[in-house]
Amino acid sequence: MNTVLHNFIVFEGLDGAGTTTQMKLLAETCDRQERSCHATFEPTSNPIGRLVRSVLQKQVVTTPLALAMLYAADREDHLNNPVTGIVGKLEAGQLVISDRYLYSSLAYQSVECGFERIQQLNQFPAPRFIFYIDTPVEECMRRIESRGSELELFERRDFLLTVRSNYERIFSELPGGVRFVRLDGTLARETIARQVAEVLRNDGILD
Ligand code: TYD
Repeated sequence: MNTVLHNFIVFEGLDGAGTTTQMKLLAETCDRQERSCHATFEPTSNPIGRLVRSVLQKQVVTTPLALAMLYAADREDHLNNPVTGIVGKLEAGQLVISDRYLYSSLAYQSVECGFERIQQLNQFPAPRFIFYIDTPVEECMRRIESRGSELELFERRDFLLTVRSNYERIFSELPGGVRFVRLDGTLARETIARQVAEVLRNDGILD
């Protein structure tokens, strides 16, 4: 995990924290500045990612370890796929923004599989930036329930409480070269987006 992929930015947070919204808002900022960027997400919409989603939606039943392996396989493809992979986009000079990355596996899959096992499965390069949208579990559950759709596998108060403390552990042990930025997920989405853009401007990534 020592390699750092420059120009690779990830958003992390609990279900309902607002990572998807911020990924999209940052992509819009890039577009406005005519900065070439690729906005993406995990689980992906590729075949392995779709299999993961069918487990999350409880259409397919498997074990926690098999699911952890699927997330890792989806990530390997997400990074290194010879046609669509993130590494190729970075090499072509694009900024890559991902809604979730390996820190989601470390936080979520560790609950049932243990931290060491999940770390072994996720020997992938680190991003340059992690924006962690820190949103209280109660607020996340309120947002998830207000969507009115069936709850997914991990959308449970007790589970998310454990995920939240796992995130804290992971972020206290990040390798050098990774910039970690905590954002208050209870702020307005536009305020958070401005804070993200400000950090990236200070780093010379955005104008
Ligand atoms: P999410 O981005 O929240 O999906 P949606 O667009 O449906 O809201 O991610 C789906 C779920 O997968 C979420 O509960 C977090 C979980 N997850 C993991 O458990 N491990 C992982 O490695 C990733 C990427 C996501």
